[in-house]
Amino acid sequence: MKPLKDWFVPWLTTAREYDTSILDKAWANPDYGRLMLNENPLPPSEKVIKAVTDILSQGNRYPDSMKRLRTKIGKLHNLGPENIALCNGSSEIIDSMMRIFLQPGDEFIVSNPTFGLFPPRAELVGGKVVSVPLRKEDLQYDVDGMLKAITPRTKLILVINPNNPTGIFIEDKDLIRFCETGIPLCVDEAYLHYHPEIPSKSYLIEKYPHVFLSHTFSKAHGFAGIRLGYLVGTEEMVNAFNTMFLPWNVSLMAMAAAEAILDNPEEIAIKVAHNKRWMDIFFAELQKVGLKPYPAHGNYMLVDATMTGKTTAEILAAALEMEKIFLKKIPTIHGRDGYFRVTPGVDKENERFVRFVRNYFGKR
Ligand SMILES: Cc1ncc(COP(=O)(O)O)c(C=O)c1O
Repeated sequence: MKPLKDWFVPWLTTAREYDTSILDKAWANPDYGRLMLNENPLPPSEKVIKAVTDILSQGNRYPDSMKRLRTKIGKLHNLGPENIALCNGSSEIIDSMMRIFLQPGDEFIVSNPTFGLFPPRAELVGGKVVSVPLRKEDLQYDVDGMLKAITPRTKLILVINPNNPTGIFIEDKDLIRFCETGIPLCVDEAYLHYHPEIPSKSYLIEKYPHVFLSHTFSKAHGFAGIRLGYLVGTEEMVNAFNTMFLPWNVSLMAMAAAEAILDNPEEIAIKVAHNKRWMDIFFAELQKVGLKPYPAHGNYMLVDATMTGKTTAEILAAALEMEKIFLKKIPTIHGRDGYFRVTPGVDKENERFVRFVRNYFGKR
C-alpha cells in the first residue's frame, strides 16, 4: 500500500512551516513576559466582555452577514458595507488571497524579511515565493528590486504598511508604483490602528480595483484571541474573498466584541497610548546602550544589536535567563546576525525588559 505521505499534494510537505510553538511555552509559563508576538498586553474592557457574554445566550444560532458591523467598519474607510469582508483574523485573508490568485507555479513577490505567515501559505497552494531583500541602507522596501522581479507568472504582491518587522511606512509614491503595475496587491495595514492620524490607503481601491487592504482587530484593539479581521476592497474583490472564506467564519462573540469596541473607541485610544509610552521609553533605553532601534510605528520595535557581536540566539537566551522575557527571533538580515524584535507588554514586563537592556548591553 502507498504510504500516506504519498497521497498528500506535493506542496503540503515542502512548504515551510509557521512555527507557533512559542505560544505553548508562553501559556505554560504565565510568569514569562510575552514580548515576542505583537500582542496587545491590555485585556478587553468590561464593555467588551459584557457584549460577548450577553450574546452567548444566542450561541445556538448561525450568524447572519453582519451588515451592521460591516457598515460601522466601512464608515471608518468612507466606504459601504459592500466593501468589507469579515474574517477570522486577518490570517484568513493571508490564506485566501493565495487560493484566489495563485495557481501552482505562480509567483508571489514579498520583501525579506516579512511577516512569517505569508510565505508558507503561498507555498501551500504550490505558489513560488519571490523574496526581495529590504534595502541595505535603511531596511525600506527595495521598490526597484521588487518591480524588477515581476515576470509573466507574478500574480500577487505584498506590501505591509507599516512593515513587519521594521515598523517603517512606505512612501506614497512608492506604493503607487506597485499599484500602477495592475498586478493584485495586498496592502496589509495590521498596525495602522496605532496611528489614527494616518489615513488608511483604502481610497486606492476606487482607482486601482486590483488593490485590497487587510486589517485586523488583533493589534490596537487587542482581540488576538477573540479573532477578527477584515478585508477592504471593491465589491468584486469582496465577493471573491467571501466565496473563498468559509461561511460563518466569524463567531457571534467576535462580532459582539467588535461592535462594543467600535462603539467605545476610547478603549482603543488607551491601548494605543500605553503602547506609545513604552515604545518611546524602549527607544531611548536601547539608544543609550549603543544599540540601533528602528523608529517603529506599530506595537513592536526592530533592534539592530549586530554591533555587539552577540548573535540573536544568545540575546534571546540571555533575556529568558536574566529576566524571564520572550523576545522575537529575527533571522539574519543581509547576512548579519544579532537583530531581535520586542513588543511592549504590561508595565512590569516592560520594566524587566529595560533592566535586561541595561544589564546585558549596558555593561559591555
Ligand atoms: C503584518 C501582519 N499581518 C497579519 C497578521 C495576522 O494577524 P491576525 O490573524 O491575528 O489578524 C500579523 C500578526 O502578527 C501581522 O504581523
